[in-house]
Amino acid sequence: TAAAGEPGRSDRPDVIAHRGSSGVAPENTLAAITTAREHRADSVEVDVQRTADGELVLLHDCTLERTTDVEEVFPDRESYALSDFTSDELARLDAGSWLSPEFAGEPIPTLREGIRALGPRTDLLLEVKVCAGEEDLGKAVADALREIPGYLPRAVATDSLVVQSFDHDETRAFHDELPEVSVGLLFGARPTDAELADAAGWAQQANPRHTLTDQALVDQVHALGLDINVWTVNAESDMRAMIDLGVDGVITDYPQVLREVLRAG
Ligand code: G3P
Ligand code: CA
Repeated sequence: TAAAGEPGRSDRPDVIAHRGSSGVAPENTLAAITTAREHRADSVEVDVQRTADGELVLLHDCTLERTTDVEEVFPDRESYALSDFTSDELARLDAGSWLSPEFAGEPIPTLREGIRALGPRTDLLLEVKVCAGEEDLGKAVADALREIPGYLPRAVATDSLVVQSFDHDETRAFHDELPEVSVGLLFGARPTDAELADAAGWAQQANPRHTLTDQALVDQVHALGLDINVWTVNAESDMRAMIDLGVDGVITDYPQVLREVLRAG
């Protein structure tokens, strides 16, 4: 993140593609990640969850119906929770056609496949998505990242990985496993002073919904030494407002639009 000019203020926020370039490609797929690279995103945000057989895969919802053809492929299943499906079963699903026939056959990627698709120059903002009944996902994500040959040492050296979650306990568990990796806390409601003070003790980012974010919050977060990335900012007027507040990153479904807003100044 750039923090030039005024102290504690980012003059040019990072462009962060939300679930990949999900405005034009199916969210959390390799197509969305590849498109985000083409859109010159600085970083890609994706959501990670765990299958029934312990594989880590990219999916936002806790269930598969909205973004795959699971009901056609497995018409007799009682539950479509991702955590009830094995990775072999997931391999039979199409995670692209729901958006457009152009993306037919796009698979649900594993975390490892997603990281490979980022290439060497695009950062990763990895959201640990904790669905009901899930336990120890923070540790599982740390273990999975350790198993990708060469990835963590490079990600730490280049500060190209941030792990974030709405579940602050799992974020903390991840941090305890891999304290050298940056972590962020997501806030769907305005963070309290106590929450921010606690975050400043061990995290690097506080990442609120953009509609909660005003100059006082940005200044408070920066005064605590934390970065602030706001989500999910899709209207150009909101992009400009967040840039003017001096946030460190803007998470958007349309990184190509944000890139143009930044270019136009
Ligand atoms: O990165 C933050 C944002 O993705 C959080 O909301 O529901 O899109 O995962 P959601
Ligand atoms: Ca997310």
